[in-house]
Amino acid sequence: MPVLTFANTKGGAGKTTAVLILASELAGRGNRVTILDADPRGWISRWHAIAGASSLISVASVNEETIESATARAKKRGGYILIDLPSSHDALLAKAVGLADHVLIPVQGCAMDAHGGAEVLELLKELDQSCGVRIPHSVVLTRVNAAVTTRALQAAKDFLADRGIATLSTAIAERAAYRDVFDKGGLLQAMNPMEVSNLVKALDNGSRLADEVMALMPQKNARPAAATRRAPIAKAA
Ligand SMILES: Nc1ncnc2c1ncn2[C@@H]1O[C@H](COP(=O)(O)OP(=O)(O)OP(=O)(O)O)[C@@H](O)[C@H]1O
Ligand SMILES: [Mg+2]
Repeated sequence: MPVLTFANTKGGAGKTTAVLILASELAGRGNRVTILDADPRGWISRWHAIAGASSLISVASVNEETIESATARAKKRGGYILIDLPSSHDALLAKAVGLADHVLIPVQGCAMDAHGGAEVLELLKELDQSCGVRIPHSVVLTRVNAAVTTRALQAAKDFLADRGIATLSTAIAERAAYRDVFDKGGLLQAMNPMEVSNLVKALDNGSRLADEVMALMPQKNARPAAATRRAPIAKAA
């Protein structure tokens, strides 16, 4: 029952998109996934309300008062628990970070986002220094142009590396599929490659992200619900 919290106090950093990509891939591999939608705007809940999402994915709206009990319920259900936070810097953020086995900090390739991520890192440091609670965490770079390493992206990487911050080697590329899936509903894997450009690359990116995240998280009780696990799709050239 690993809990993964997605946090960045900068709006639009790619938290909800990263949750959806991972949920899609984990469920596609036969894992139960519970998404705790802590964003009052409810993007994930809206996506889930559109028919076609996997029965392995359940979504619950939570707030500062309910997040702990909802996490406890989700743990009983088993599988992976993903917490999608709004961009606010408040008690909800602190609770969601405190509940996490791993905090993933989506950061776009620009300094503004890196600073939003730095607020989350500051909170993690405070928890460690004041309470002795050390929560593993990593940055995941998002909306990366698949072809080019821009100067802005390099600036963000340098900013993070200078502070000794772990960054996932898999970055999330800018892909139409990741936008379109919000409107269409369902899993990324169920999208029509004739309608969505570069869907195979988007799926491959999601698969590599899930491989890396699963390796970071405690595996106990996160076994696939189905007997069979989908074989990872072939890596794009
Ligand atoms: N990798 C991506 N490829 C294409 N579009 C993306 C990608 N990541 C994010 N976007 C788009 O950028 C916008 C912001 O992304 P998202 O909602 O995931 O950010 P967020 O951090 O959850 O924002 P908020 O703080 O407002 O909750 C959305 O319109 C989303 O579709
Ligand atoms: Mg969001």
